[in-house]
Amino acid sequence: MRGLRETLKIPIAVKLSHFFSAIANFAGKLDASGASALVLFNRFYQPDLDIEELEVVPSLALSHPNELLVRLHWVAIIHGHIKADMAITGGVHSAQDVLKSMMVGARVAMMTSALLQNGVDHLDTVYAGIIYWMQEHEYESIAQMCGSMSQRNVPTPPPTNEPTT
Ligand SMILES: Cc1cc2nc3c(=O)[nH]c(=O)nc-3n(C[C@H](O)[C@H](O)[C@H](O)COP(=O)(O)O)c2cc1C
Repeated sequence: MRGLRETLKIPIAVKLSHFFSAIANFAGKLDASGASALVLFNRFYQPDLDIEELEVVPSLALSHPNELLVRLHWVAIIHGHIKADMAITGGVHSAQDVLKSMMVGARVAMMTSALLQNGVDHLDTVYAGIIYWMQEHEYESIAQMCGSMSQRNVPTPPPTNEPTT
């Protein structure tokens, strides 16, 4: 990472897997090494096996919104502890998902599966939903909500080592 930072002039975003054992610590090390942004989390393609034909079969499983929760969890914990921006990818399907991503501290919410499922016009629905929610709740900007529900800013966050309900 340090070598890349010294070589490249452009911002470097690192897309992480959630299979690392100490994600917050690793995020801190990437930040200290000069990462401009962290993207949480990659979804690996998981090819299946056809045991009749003995072939590896590509399979593309699109995401489900419940995959967002592990992203919200870790961005909420890391927010405020690193300089790098964070983006959430994985399970962002709706306006509510984008708003939640902003509230835990992401600067960017990425959307792939929902657009493949619903078409690119789905962005209009998401955008309208964000604007509607912000008007209903008297928010003037996304910046107002950024990190407002991160671990630091929630009075009694749930324990980080136990399942959340
Ligand atoms: C067809 C397809 C192609 C993708 N190609 C890439 C890629 O080249 N590089 C990458 O980092 N992620 C790639 N992704 C992962 C997406 O960027 C995204 O992280 C993942 O789909 C989770 O977000 P989602 O829940 O909105 O789908 C791809 C996803 C899909 C479905």
